[in-house]
Amino acid sequence: MSPRAKAKTVRILALESSCDESAAAVLDSADGLLAHELFSQVELHRIYGGVVPELASRDHVHKLLPLVRSALSAAGTEPRDLAGVAYTAGPGLIGALLTGAALARSLAYAWGVPALGVHHLEGHLLAPLLEDEPPPFPHVALLVSGGHTMLIEVQGIGRYQRLGESRDDAAGEAFDKTAKLLGLPYPGGPELARMADAAKGGTFTFPRPMLDRPGLEFSFSGLKTAVLHAVRGQQTLTEGLRADVAHAVQEAIVETLVAKSLRALEQTGLDDLVVSGGVSANRTLRARLAEVVSKRGGRVYYPRIEFCTDNAAMIAVAGLARLKAGQHDGLAIKARAQWPLESLPQL
Ligand code: KG4
Ligand code: ZN
Repeated sequence: MSPRAKAKTVRILALESSCDESAAAVLDSADGLLAHELFSQVELHRIYGGVVPELASRDHVHKLLPLVRSALSAAGTEPRDLAGVAYTAGPGLIGALLTGAALARSLAYAWGVPALGVHHLEGHLLAPLLEDEPPPFPHVALLVSGGHTMLIEVQGIGRYQRLGESRDDAAGEAFDKTAKLLGLPYPGGPELARMADAAKGGTFTFPRPMLDRPGLEFSFSGLKTAVLHAVRGQQTLTEGLRADVAHAVQEAIVETLVAKSLRALEQTGLDDLVVSGGVSANRTLRARLAEVVSKRGGRVYYPRIEFCTDNAAMIAVAGLARLKAGQHDGLAIKARAQWPLESLPQL
């Protein structure tokens, strides 16, 4: 028997419930990702124009257990095959986190296996490890979601150095809020991007905040005011003008993200960039990053599109690495609305 065949494989269940996606996944150290199931609450929150935390928690309570059942069944896995249960312990909406934490901890207790609380952003950072060509360490990561905009130097799993982040709105939030001002339904980010890609632009130019200053901090909150003024300045906001505003918003956000990512690569002397989080699905951002990073001789790595936004497969990747290294939470039910990434143990 080869040494590989003798090595014990580890299979885990993972849950995600930090915001408005309920998800479950099964990951095996030898066979890879066996199943991932997801329910998005987007329809539930749409009429309110944003996520309502209490409604999110209540819906996770309904959806998580059926998702666990279907993930286990799709993975052909019985509870006795599992070596642990990972769950998102933060950062996120505290009530939503607690629903996943309580369920994961209870299942682990009933099945006699360890439970482990995973950092949601570590999940986003490690999601590209599920792909056929995973990114090498070290690299710079650009994490761009509805809740975070951050540049991180990633030396290895648990070895994260924050290089810069947004002082106010996240990039996804800027997409969503300006989309709302244009009358687009929540979450407007992807819709605004579609309009922007179809427009020729040139009518409006919005500020690129903090681009003229050294450093790797971002600020996107001023874009809302710029868009508001542009919209108010029009007698009638024709479809063409709306598309031009969308184009100018996307240009301002993308140009800022690309310039700061390049600056982070220069500052660290690294060549490879990982981009993760919901905004990494943006096509213009991808095209521009590919251009500048390849000029430096590096490569840009992404998770597959369905794992750019919140999912349990990415929580499983981080959870499996940590459970294999012997980490777990004991009997505690851990949930933290705020949780610094740098406080995680190195592997
Ligand atoms: O990572 P994610 O699913 O949730 C958070 O953890 O925040 O990111 C969601 C964000 C939303 O703000 C959404 O508008 C944005 O990602 N987003 C996009 C695109 N697809 C999703 N923003 C710009 N262009 C896109 N194609
Ligand atoms: Zn996220």
